[in-house]
Amino acid sequence: MRVTASAPAKIILFGEHSVVYGKPAIAAAIDLRTYVTARFNENRRIKIEARDIKTPGLIVSFSENEIYFESDYGKAAEVLSYVRQAIELVREESDRSGKGVTVSITSQIPVGAGLGSSAAVAVATIGAVSRLFGLELSPEEVGKLGHRVELLVQGASSGIDPTVSAIGGFIHYQNGSFEHLPFMELPLVVGYTGSSGSTKELVAMVRESYEDMPEVIGPILNSMGMLVGKAKDVITGEHGVDLKFGLLGRLMNVNHGLLDALGVSTKKLSELVYAARVAGALGAKITGAGGGGCMYALAPKRQSEVATAIKIAGGTPMITRISRDGLRIEEVER
Ligand code: PMV
Repeated sequence: MRVTASAPAKIILFGEHSVVYGKPAIAAAIDLRTYVTARFNENRRIKIEARDIKTPGLIVSFSENEIYFESDYGKAAEVLSYVRQAIELVREESDRSGKGVTVSITSQIPVGAGLGSSAAVAVATIGAVSRLFGLELSPEEVGKLGHRVELLVQGASSGIDPTVSAIGGFIHYQNGSFEHLPFMELPLVVGYTGSSGSTKELVAMVRESYEDMPEVIGPILNSMGMLVGKAKDVITGEHGVDLKFGLLGRLMNVNHGLLDALGVSTKKLSELVYAARVAGALGAKITGAGGGGCMYALAPKRQSEVATAIKIAGGTPMITRISRDGLRIEEVER
């Protein structure tokens, strides 16, 4: 038997970092996916085949007729810890824990870009392996197991990434609970800086600032929580779509400023954010942990101009759509 499952990337629209302090956040699945195929193997081992996963920083050099790949495989290796923990957790949940499993992975999601590639690979692996083992897990349960994988591999995590990857669509998330928000098409452009920050280190850095000066950092986190509440009201409210985009754009700009105040922006991220705004985006901000990774812009009728501006500023633009689907079982072959 062979099972293929897929799970989407995500962007955090509002509330990264403050979500770690129990404040709400809003995130959405986007239309880039990771595919995982699982099958039993004869020996009792876990085998992982990662043939096509998008890792950043691929460097290729040419000399006469030879091509040399000078890539950093560190990021790819990191992905494997999520896959391994995901398989082990599912094996623990089932009564066939001695079985060997082979998984093969292909992914459209750039690794280490802050788009939730680790959560997507964990969710798709749990989806495929649990079905192989005959477990009937709901997307919510898969999301919870994905959160456990993140806690095991990276120490701290709010759980928002595996939740949105498993559930799909738009979610409002707080303290491990989520609710779906009404689906809304958002004209987005994601801009990738080409480098990545360490979520673990950035979360620890914010924690240190908070502990050193709670009276300064506390109000910033509170304000982030409030703006998420306001964004939720706008999304669920009765305004026309143009007014909604205008208000959401302004809230994105406030959220970016507050993230910058926490120290998680970089020169490159801010350059991409300003390039997008100058090119007509209604709002632009970091998405995810910062320190590199991605920003996103809300750019109704200006997506291609904003994408060009991001490119000129040295980033990699991706015009993306929100994905309604979370975890999907693509194929079961008996
Ligand atoms: O690094 P990302 O894109 O997965 O974003 C993590 C979001 C944080 O709020 C910074 C951390 C968390 O666990 O929620």
